[in-house]
Amino acid sequence: MEYSKTFISEGMAQIIIYKVVSSEGETLERARSRAPVFYNPIMNMNRDSAILALGALQRRLSRPLTICEPMCGTGIRGIRMALEVPKVREIVLGDMSPHAVRLTEKNIGLNGMSERVRVRRMEANLLLSLHARPLARFDYTDIDPFGTPAPFIDTVARATKRDGMVALTATDMAPLCGVNVRACIRKYGSTSLRTGYSHESALRILIGSFIRGAAIHEVASKPVFSFFADHYIRLYMLLDRGKMRVDKSLREIGYLLNCSACKSIRSEKSGLDDRMRICEVCGSEMKAAGPLWLGNLADDDFCLDMIECSKDSFIGSNRRLINIIRKVRGEIDMPPGFFVLDELSSNLGVASRRLNPVIDGLRNAGFKAAVSHANNRGLKTDASVEAVKRIVLELNVKGV
Ligand SMILES: C[S@@+](CC[C@H](N)C(=O)[O-])C[C@H]1O[C@@H](n2cnc3c(N)ncnc32)[C@H](O)[C@@H]1O
Repeated sequence: MEYSKTFISEGMAQIIIYKVVSSEGETLERARSRAPVFYNPIMNMNRDSAILALGALQRRLSRPLTICEPMCGTGIRGIRMALEVPKVREIVLGDMSPHAVRLTEKNIGLNGMSERVRVRRMEANLLLSLHARPLARFDYTDIDPFGTPAPFIDTVARATKRDGMVALTATDMAPLCGVNVRACIRKYGSTSLRTGYSHESALRILIGSFIRGAAIHEVASKPVFSFFADHYIRLYMLLDRGKMRVDKSLREIGYLLNCSACKSIRSEKSGLDDRMRICEVCGSEMKAAGPLWLGNLADDDFCLDMIECSKDSFIGSNRRLINIIRKVRGEIDMPPGFFVLDELSSNLGVASRRLNPVIDGLRNAGFKAAVSHANNRGLKTDASVEAVKRIVLELNVKGV
């Protein structure tokens, strides 16, 4: 099939993409994946988040940055980084598709970035391995694949400086959210679970998998910003050196137990035995997801720096992204998982109502409470399921 090309603008870049026309009965998504070079406008927010995270990294490192994006498609992400992030020294893009490399070369030239951005036709693991030597490593490496980033975890940890940052996108939500558990075990070495909060546990599985993969090289890592949106999850992991730090991050990996009978959630940092699978609230058998990351999904200072960087950029007007950052900040220091208000209400046999009065009720009772960034009916709190249910029932009696 012949594809025509067209110009589009995204951020400060103007690039050429292949025009996507869906045939009868075909979704636009399917048609996009057929195009000779993949470009998804929906991932604009994902790329905006990368610009802000790089800005926040730049504030920490205070040196000209080197960047690698080994699966670059049209080159849009790397070109935007060169145009929009201050003090970027060099960007190495890669793709194994010859069409993608040719188009990226054109797009680099079109944006006048040939001095700082170059593209190589190469398999991503090979390109990253060529940069595994200490002096060849990048400050920031961005893995944005089709589906899972798992096959690139080892090489990206090796190719990134020990105080640098790795960004990962995953779109394989079926394995990560408990729909295809076997695939999750194969790719991430973890069991996933289908629950109301599976998008959050998907993030935790990928974070845990990255931490364990980096630990092999005695590299410590922690998430400084991570989120779920649309059809993907996205992580920003800050690396660090030191065996003690590696051990510390590994101690934050464990299991998340879910009771489908009473909706209680519990985490276990050690291993699991049969006794631990009994729900302490109702005595039913709980199901476990993990191993996964039980710590924070973000770092407060890093999120604040991202928000600060957005003020110097047109990304400040991307209200959706800024709200996600704000909500992710609100989740810091909350226990893993969240209650879905509609599930709790149906469990209690009462009508589901507004979330804000429940949050206020919990806060007035001395608990932490906030809405989850991953679900606008999701309640993050340090209160037990029984305490939350009590407040939901009280509000129902009052008709709030
Ligand atoms: C999701 S697209 C990348 C989109 C791009 N990062 C963006 O922000 O628009 C994935 C790209 O990875 C390339 N790719 C897939 N597997 C690869 C591999 N193992 N090595 C190098 N490139 C690969 C594909 O050709 C495709 O262009």
